[in-house]
Amino acid sequence: MPRTIIVSNRLPTKILRTEDRLTFQPSEGGLATGLGSIYRQEGNVWVGWPGLFVEDAAEAEYVGEQLRQDSMVPVFLTEAEIRDFYEGFSNSTLWPTFHYFAQYATYEQAHWEAYVAVNEKFCRAVLELAGPEDTIWVHDYQLLLLPALLRQARPEATIGFFLHIPFPSYELIRVLPWRQQLLEGMLGADLLGFHTFGYMRHFLSAVSQLLGFSSQNGQIETGSRTVLVDAFPMGIDYERYVQAAASETAIQHEATYREALRAVRVILSIDRLDYSKGIAQRLRAFELLIQRYPEWREQVSLIMVVVPSRDQVAQYASLKEEIDELVGRINAQYRTIGWTPIHYFYRSFPLEELASLYRLAEVALVTPMRDGMNLVAKEFVASKADQRGVLILSERAGAARELSDALIINPTDTGQLAEAMHDALVMPEEEQVARMSAMQALVRQYNVFAWSKLFMGRLAYSKMKQHTLATE
Ligand code: F6P
Repeated sequence: MPRTIIVSNRLPTKILRTEDRLTFQPSEGGLATGLGSIYRQEGNVWVGWPGLFVEDAAEAEYVGEQLRQDSMVPVFLTEAEIRDFYEGFSNSTLWPTFHYFAQYATYEQAHWEAYVAVNEKFCRAVLELAGPEDTIWVHDYQLLLLPALLRQARPEATIGFFLHIPFPSYELIRVLPWRQQLLEGMLGADLLGFHTFGYMRHFLSAVSQLLGFSSQNGQIETGSRTVLVDAFPMGIDYERYVQAAASETAIQHEATYREALRAVRVILSIDRLDYSKGIAQRLRAFELLIQRYPEWREQVSLIMVVVPSRDQVAQYASLKEEIDELVGRINAQYRTIGWTPIHYFYRSFPLEELASLYRLAEVALVTPMRDGMNLVAKEFVASKADQRGVLILSERAGAARELSDALIINPTDTGQLAEAMHDALVMPEEEQVARMSAMQALVRQYNVFAWSKLFMGRLAYSKMKQHTLATE
């Protein structure tokens, strides 16, 4: 039976080396959590990196065996590849450029060469696995060259590509020395998916200005092939979050936190450590809230979860220091014996514990500077069984296109963000319920299963259309 081969840099399971043993854990990030519910269906397979540098062939074999039992096939990266491909080109060149932080981007030829080599490595791994009837679904910015590499080896293959981060304006893309190769790499796919129409428009504009290919109704003519481009806003596994929030563990954790916090109300913030997430700006806005509205002191706390990520990249390490410093200063300045303004956790939490925080919080702050989609916003919405609670959402997260019943803010406007927190805390219950129920209806309907079905349907359709044209 034909399968779908999902390919992404990171597998949904990551392996950590702790002293003398290996531990297997769920990976963080929207891609892994979002697609995690899908790949197990219908004998699908997921090809990717398990986040570990394997020491020898025996260890590689052991890890491979374990992962294969759960339908995953590992691609191992050497230490040099982790440095130059993952921390280098992927996260020091593409990530900052695509998130409009061009001032953080580096342009190193050695990083580019590692990026090409690792994309080729992924290509070999996929070709070993994929039969002619299988569909190959490539994900995200770490593998922009892979669609064209696969196409070269298998001209007839069905290849989809989805970008999980923003596609920026042409003015940012044109800065990249390897802009042409990157776009050509993506165009190897039959269908290219983006979270929003805005990202899709930027992509079409870059393709037209840099490669000279025009498009009509999301159809690019490259001369030899037709490539379809469309927007597919990614959803979450809605029921999984509903169930996690209703679980005994989540209810118990919430009760423990509630007892410790007594009557203090909770504003919640959950992110991977990343400068694109606006974490420092959010802390400043919280400080402004308690300066402008001293009545909230001892009444409201910010619970802030920052999940460690990419801490070998210089910008991430310095952001971590900035956050530590800000939290320390704000807490030292405003705390009282019975009240801590900011409860800061620098670690990841299992799903049920996250769910308990979603239950506990009256307000969620999802205020990135830029974010492809942001699934935390949708997870918060899904977890609110009583429909009380307010989502404050950045206008520069992809999710803002759908969740218009959130309080939408400009994350660089600290004053506006502080006012939104105040408005959320005083919002009447009927208004909370009206907004939350509208958002729940949307997030429930356009869940991750609907998203992948839509993408796969479009991909099959594009392939069928190509065959029809070829035989006419
Ligand atoms: O969703 C965007 C993304 O960059 C994924 O590609 C990635 O797996 C996730 O965030 C987490 O980042 P990383 O894999 O670098 O830990």
